[in-house]
Amino acid sequence: MEIQNEIINKDVTHDRVFIEAPDKEPYRQYYFMAVLNKHVKKIIKEIDRPLTYSIQTFGCQMNAKDSEKLAGILEKIGYVPVDSEEADFVIYNTCTVRENANLKVYGRLGYLGKLKEKNPNMIIAICGCMMQEPTVVEKIKKSYPFVDIIFGTHNIFKLAELMYIKVDADRMIIDVWKETDKIVEELPSERKYSFKASVNIMYGCNNFCSYCIVPYVRGRERSRDPKDIIAEIKSLVADGVVEITLLGQNVNSYGKTLEEPMSFAELLLEIDKIEGLERIRFMTSHPKDLSDELIEAMRISKKVCRHLHLPLQSGSSRLLKIMNRKYTKEDYLTLVDKIYTAIPDISLTTDIIVGFPGETEEDFMETLDVVKKVEFDSSFTFQYSKRTGTAAATMENQVDPEIVQDRFNRLLDLMKEISAKNANKLEGTIGDVLVEDVNKQDPSLVTGRLSNNTLVHFPGKASDIGKIIPVKLTESKGFYYFGQPLV
Ligand code: SAH
Ligand code: SF4
Ligand code: F3S
Repeated sequence: MEIQNEIINKDVTHDRVFIEAPDKEPYRQYYFMAVLNKHVKKIIKEIDRPLTYSIQTFGCQMNAKDSEKLAGILEKIGYVPVDSEEADFVIYNTCTVRENANLKVYGRLGYLGKLKEKNPNMIIAICGCMMQEPTVVEKIKKSYPFVDIIFGTHNIFKLAELMYIKVDADRMIIDVWKETDKIVEELPSERKYSFKASVNIMYGCNNFCSYCIVPYVRGRERSRDPKDIIAEIKSLVADGVVEITLLGQNVNSYGKTLEEPMSFAELLLEIDKIEGLERIRFMTSHPKDLSDELIEAMRISKKVCRHLHLPLQSGSSRLLKIMNRKYTKEDYLTLVDKIYTAIPDISLTTDIIVGFPGETEEDFMETLDVVKKVEFDSSFTFQYSKRTGTAAATMENQVDPEIVQDRFNRLLDLMKEISAKNANKLEGTIGDVLVEDVNKQDPSLVTGRLSNNTLVHFPGKASDIGKIIPVKLTESKGFYYFGQPLV
């Protein structure tokens, strides 16, 4: 960015800044990145080795995407990535959707503290959804005082500025925003893959499902301007990306809050026109907002993948109402029917919660019934976890953990049965595979995905990575296929 160089040449004569940083984002952050880059170069010279960073990401694809932005900032500052947490700068990008996610972070923080005893110059930062909860920040202040920087989900773009403040401050730097209407774009980003990328189309969530903490930690729904989204995708495609995943907690309500409202289906069809882009994925879809217009857009598009993640949560209309999901069992089944009719080769996957407060055996049987009828290709099943601050947390009729475990096991058994039944559905057919990697166990094979997200292994080489290759699916192995390339 030219502005950044100008500032550096004109205004920064030493390691430190002598004028105020610009107010406007993202220039302000580029300014801090440049200043820190000088600082880092000096340290590297002194210690005669590179400075390393490690980012540990918990939770969903939103967090994975945020971590790419954090990595971009750190690399611009001059840090190099390492796999191990024995690094000079360690960030935990946290998730708080279920209790387990929090416990994992606390466990790992203890270990980080020990590493810091060995390397006192190590900097530890924690960010992400857990940090949006004041009780969590209090606990870290008290029990993990060695943490250097704490920030939240709304200001990840500020990492460089917070690091700059930390250079001179001998205290924990805490900057967590309750809410924001800001969308700061055009920061550096370090993509994990060269050929596929994710793109945020919206932030936050307004749905307040009664069990879910996400609206509290990610704020209100904000859609990005379609022009910015298209420009970002075009530049990714120019950089070699052939598959993009559009991200949002509820992509089906995209565009409702824009000055010039636009539907998600309209956005998809605009993206579909981008030359050089081969595949479009998106997540997550909320059944209540999945329109006929969207089904039609998916049907006519050659690029939108034959996969839809459609969280069910429960098959009981009674529970769905208490969960505030705004659809019934019948609505869900009708929707699935419409989708299967329009796009018969689509693969449906889902999320299900077992043991929501007050769930009876009858409610659970309704869930099993939907699973049997829809025959999901795969599902993420979760035991209900009480999240303080959500409506369901104060419900008194919490289900006995033993009953929850039993229902959870029964649901998994049913899923296994369905998977086994459908395992070789595609055997003998030909499908296009986007090659993602060389097979870890057998380097004579490459691994990739069909449009419907199924994994396929077939003979190939590293130079196939990023290419879409027609493959005959010769043998089913349950969750994946072996195949033979046809070119
Ligand atoms: N926006 C997405 C889901 C985000 S959270 C959607 O609406 O579908 C991912 C999944 O975590 C949810 O679909 C839900 O199944 C699960 N989940 C959320 N809160 C939970 C809780 N308190 N206990 C157990 N599972 C939960
Ligand atoms: Fe959570 Fe519901 Fe929003 Fe999904 S739609 S993030 S489950 S509140
Ligand atoms: Fe977790 Fe936050 Fe995603 S709570 S699931 S990382 S939005």
